[in-house]
Amino acid sequence: MKPFFNCCLISFLIFSCGSSGQGETSEEFPVNSKYAKGKEIYDRTCVVCHMEDGKGLEETFPPLAESDYLLSNPSRALQQVLEGSSEKMIVNGIEYKGIMPAQDVTEEEAIEVVNYILNAWGNDGGEVDESDL
Ligand code: HEC
Repeated sequence: MKPFFNCCLISFLIFSCGSSGQGETSEEFPVNSKYAKGKEIYDRTCVVCHMEDGKGLEETFPPLAESDYLLSNPSRALQQVLEGSSEKMIVNGIEYKGIMPAQDVTEEEAIEVVNYILNAWGNDGGEVDESDL
């Protein structure tokens, strides 16, 4: 009985090691490890509307990936995350007039998640910090 149990335990350990590290590895997507906390907040909070690929839903949820609107004013994104947004906006040539509710995040988390979206999906939007709040 005992050797059998050990054997199961060992194969379990091997299996769990083998399966971790699959999918979006940090090697493939360095941004996911650099902004790990921001990604976590994104996956928990923003992904339902802005989608996993950051492309949103045309005419309903604006894209964050390659968003001219976001990249032209990163500190405005901080404000939108913390206070919500219900203004008419043109994002990559398409008009949006939806309502984004204020997100349930702290100021610190807002900075983390905005830094993630500024650099995810090929974005090259720099970073924000407390001085942009
Ligand atoms: C319930 C759906 C919803 C959630 C959740 C949501 N958003 Fe939005 N977001 C919207 C909508 C709708 C707009 C457009 C608002 C408007 O027209 O004023 C928007 C606009 C934006 C914009 C500006 C437009 C652009 O595409 O550049 C940014 C930046 C943004 N959201 C970031 C976030 C981040 C970061 C989170 C998570 C912390 C988040 N959103 C969560 C629906 C959502």
